[in-house]
Amino acid sequence: MKYFNYRNGHLFAEEVGIAQIADRVGTPFFCYSSSALEKQYDSLNTALHPLNANICYAVKANSNQAVIKTLAARGSGADVVSKGELLRALAAGIPAHQIVFSGVGKTAEEIHFALTERIGQFNVESLPELELISNIASKMGSVAPVALRVNPDVDAETHEKISTGRKTDKFGIDIEDTPELYGRATKMSGLKTVGLAIHIGSQLTSLKPFRYAFERLSKLVQVLRTSGHSVTHVDLGGGLGVNYIDETPPTPMSYAKVINETIGGLDVEITVEPGRFLVANAGILVSKVIFIKETAVHRFVIVDAAMNDFIRPTLYDAEHCILCEKEVSQGVARPAQIVGPVCETGDILVREVHLPNLTSHDLIALCSAGAYGAVMGSSYNTRLPTPEVLVKDQEFSIIRPRPTYSHILSLDRIPSWL
Ligand code: LLP
Repeated sequence: MKYFNYRNGHLFAEEVGIAQIADRVGTPFFCYSSSALEKQYDSLNTALHPLNANICYAVKANSNQAVIKTLAARGSGADVVSKGELLRALAAGIPAHQIVFSGVGKTAEEIHFALTERIGQFNVESLPELELISNIASKMGSVAPVALRVNPDVDAETHEKISTGRKTDKFGIDIEDTPELYGRATKMSGLKTVGLAIHIGSQLTSLKPFRYAFERLSKLVQVLRTSGHSVTHVDLGGGLGVNYIDETPPTPMSYAKVINETIGGLDVEITVEPGRFLVANAGILVSKVIFIKETAVHRFVIVDAAMNDFIRPTLYDAEHCILCEKEVSQGVARPAQIVGPVCETGDILVREVHLPNLTSHDLIALCSAGAYGAVMGSSYNTRLPTPEVLVKDQEFSIIRPRPTYSHILSLDRIPSWL
């Protein structure tokens, strides 16, 4: 997290004090570092350069248009999974031909819109989806570039809820069924079958599952070619893990090496869809202590951010580091549990952490919150959606303001009988 540092004992994002942002924006808020986003993109881009691979940022990880635009300025494409994400990617300036549309449940409206915009590729996950795209494209007199997303039956060795490449998961087409379906797809009108796609899971900290899945994919490409099919594109999905606490995820170079060894010789255009890798450690969630509540069992630090602002700890038992705005070298003996104000026992941000003696109004930052943070937020308990701030050098900009209560209330409609 080297873009979030202490200066004279206070936490900074790049050249801007976190306390200064909190004064302007209020808490809680997400804070992202432009340099961190750029550095992550560049490190992956450099590693993949010899493979001439396309990076299509998985927008789901953080879909703020300012974040997408920062990556688009480096040349990134986008991987989207809904019309909303497609609109965001286009609005942020990503050329349509650099956009891949993934997901198991694309609707007719979404497919129609994506075809109108002439996106680069549909990653298709079932026969009914192939038929629907074929139908719509034919009626429009258009040709949809499609890749079949394969389910390689690989255990990604990650959290149960973010594993996507096992036979039991809803994703992809069973690898055994793919050759037959690929053949059918090549004969369907309105489709141009360009290749294969895969995505086995998220937050992978070992290269082994990647290697295994890519090897299976490579064999499949050869099988298809032997049957006379053309395979020009291979999309390897996302999944590259990051360091949250003490993980040692693969480096971009070692990831690229595995791609080179498994796919490199196939003479195909390679795409990857990283999400978390690009944005997780470029963001923090800043919140303010409301109360310290000491009980016989716990020392609760009750802060103004909660599970509605950041659901990863509750949903995946995810662990995130904490930084205090004021630099203190020593924690107090009694560990703290950091919790939010939401009325659920599961509203825990950090289960156990040694922190200094905090008091009301102190600021803390939850680290590695740039991915799957703001995008998974809700307004549960009628809490206001969390604002987002982007820092660049000495400047910061509010890239999503906090809505007002009157705006939130005005979204409801009272039926005439009440
Ligand atoms: N491509 C596809 C088709 C995906 O489904 C995903 C993520 C990605 C790419 C990007 O994966 P990444 O590089 O970020 O690992 N909310 C969860 C993560 C869900 C990931 C869903 N799919 C979390 O907070 O851990």
